[in-house]
Amino acid sequence: MMSEENFTLKNFVPRYSFYPLYSAWPKEIMTESKSLIKTTYYQEMESAKDILIYIHIPYCQELCNFCGLNVKITKSKDEINSFVDHLIKEIKNSPRCSNVKGVSIGGGTPNFLPAKELERLIVFLHQHFNLSSEAHLQIEIDPRYITLDQLNIFQKFNFKNLIVGLIDFNSDVLALSNRHQGPNQAAGLELILNQNYFSVTAEIIAGLAMQSKESIKFTLDYCLNSGVNSFNIYPLFIAPWNPNSKIHIQITQNNKSANFSDNRFELFKFACDYLKSHHITSVGPGHFATPDHWWNDKLQKEDLCYCISGVFPFIVDHMLSFGPSAISSSSSIVCANEKVTDRYLSLIQKKEDCHSSFFVKSKSQIAFQELINQLFAKSQTKIPSEILENPSFLINKKIIVELELAKIEDQSIKMTSLGREYFGHLLHLLDPKI
Ligand SMILES: C[S@@+](CC[C@H](N)C(=O)[O-])C[C@H]1O[C@@H](n2cnc3c(N)ncnc32)[C@H](O)[C@@H]1O
Ligand code: SF4
Repeated sequence: MMSEENFTLKNFVPRYSFYPLYSAWPKEIMTESKSLIKTTYYQEMESAKDILIYIHIPYCQELCNFCGLNVKITKSKDEINSFVDHLIKEIKNSPRCSNVKGVSIGGGTPNFLPAKELERLIVFLHQHFNLSSEAHLQIEIDPRYITLDQLNIFQKFNFKNLIVGLIDFNSDVLALSNRHQGPNQAAGLELILNQNYFSVTAEIIAGLAMQSKESIKFTLDYCLNSGVNSFNIYPLFIAPWNPNSKIHIQITQNNKSANFSDNRFELFKFACDYLKSHHITSVGPGHFATPDHWWNDKLQKEDLCYCISGVFPFIVDHMLSFGPSAISSSSSIVCANEKVTDRYLSLIQKKEDCHSSFFVKSKSQIAFQELINQLFAKSQTKIPSEILENPSFLINKKIIVELELAKIEDQSIKMTSLGREYFGHLLHLLDPKI
């Protein structure tokens, strides 16, 4: 638990991925009354409103040595093609939800699937979930491998947002990140922007080896001048399962004399401040949009939501996710799929359950999840009594107010613009810890 003494905004937690954190899930729940949990999960999903579907495509051609995501490196086109068959089998065996408001396809690298496989998947999603023409569709793209055929499919199915891994435009930074191979990312970005159809979010990392304020400034200017209209800025996360990512810290430390900042949060803050100084508005932790971007409009209408898969133009009550490691969340249950792609594929092949663990939320955790969903979108929201009475909330209330993360009056809470930027911190302070 963070105490008042050691809490400063300098050590902020910029991403609050999902609730409760995976590390807090008890392991016993995996065996204990699994069928009852599953029945409840299906019932809650089938009656849910405002569902977001997330599809995880784990494949990449080469491993970027900073990567903190669940990926499988392969060059086997056969495996990639049969992956869609497995996904379709998993989806066919899932709860039959009818209120799907959006679909987010992420990875790994979704555009590692050939255009015809992407189309097969999207057509199936449309049919199975009876998606409306209003449904919000978005996908993550590696610009080095994007093709016109793939872009035509996204346009045909009315994808609204393409989230493009641009990382940095400095060739030394990219080379040290093992991201120099393949066609040039600038050409991929140009191809996407030339379609003049999608809103384009640039994903930028702050804190990579050889990165400097100058290189970040160059990258942001490049994006802004090209027509990118939104940004996801991430401070480098050192993933324990990817030992290569440590080289970024080591190289940066060895290069102190060469004027490279050794502080990824400092670079993160620099990137955020640079965007704000160019009138790019902050809509959430590390998320920025040009003033005319639809994120601003949705924010005004109190319809912008922030969840594990990014920013969405509706409040995501439930998430139904597919593919290896995908995490789903119903009203009272969170569940995760098998993480290792080969094992996931073999479970589907054997017609076995591919969920590897379940977590049943307590009453206060359910209330807290509801608060998270509302807080980001609504200008003012009620604090559930389970949280109001919680001792950790009573201690942290003072810190929240003093740091101007939120205004708390009686039973309601209103996030300040600072709180919106430091969303992760605000949530860590509010978390009832039960
Ligand atoms: C699924 S990828 C986007 C599509 C594609 N795989 C690519 O990299 O271009 C999501 C993004 O997460 C970010 N990311 C990955 N690993 C990270 C890490 N360890 N720390 C911070 N951001 C990371 C990168 O910006 C990456 O582009
Ligand atoms: S950053 Fe993107 S392309 Fe690189 S390994 Fe991770 S998911 Fe794959």
